[in-house]
Amino acid sequence: MKPDRIILAITGASGAQYGLRLLENLLDAGCEVYLMISQPAQVVIATETNLDLPGRADEQQIFLSECFSAADNQLHVFGRDQWMSPVASGSNTARAMVICPCSSATLSSVANGASRDLIERAADVMLKEGRKLILLHREMPVSAIHLENMLKLSRLGVTIMPASPGFYHQPTTIDELIDFVTARILDQLHIEHTLIPRWGESQ
Ligand SMILES: Cc1cc2nc3c(=O)[nH]c(=O)nc-3n(C[C@H](O)[C@H](O)[C@H](O)COP(=O)(O)O)c2cc1C
Repeated sequence: MKPDRIILAITGASGAQYGLRLLENLLDAGCEVYLMISQPAQVVIATETNLDLPGRADEQQIFLSECFSAADNQLHVFGRDQWMSPVASGSNTARAMVICPCSSATLSSVANGASRDLIERAADVMLKEGRKLILLHREMPVSAIHLENMLKLSRLGVTIMPASPGFYHQPTTIDELIDFVTARILDQLHIEHTLIPRWGESQ
């Protein structure tokens, strides 16, 4: 059976935990994941988590595969200039890409078709191929530039998700807030999960 391939990019917005938890759940669900982590995202990961993430993509692949018990060849990590990787071309077979979290810088690059590094190129490919692209943007407050970039992408069919968890499941831990957001992204990807009870189904 063809593997369910998902592209995940973690960029340098606050909320690295959202991206890492999403990665864990995609791997648990049996997806094959093409992962890219921008350099600013590595600074954020060092600031916000206890992960001692190595700097090189090949080392990150080994490290994160171990962290999340990925199967052989389930996780592929690419560096910013790895132009020979599948995600650089529309011939790749990934059905969706998520940028989680998505910085305002990457939001702008994607909205303007910059394609200057592999994350921007992979997103541009998803746009040109008409495939599912989800941006979990994190910034507060947002400027008119951010709003215009979001509107432009939304009109092109991109799913814009602000990193803003709900509270109606009465969370008592940060993990529950992270899971709320992760669950909504998995829903968008049509991937089954049991992270949080669904509205109206908890009783
Ligand atoms: C600890 C930390 C937190 C940051 N948080 C945000 C944020 O929430 N949103 C944002 O748009 N940029 C944030 N930035 C700034 C971005 O990292 C910066 O604009 C960077 O150029 C983004 O590059 P990238 O999109 O290639 O990862 C943060 C930077 C650091 C170091």
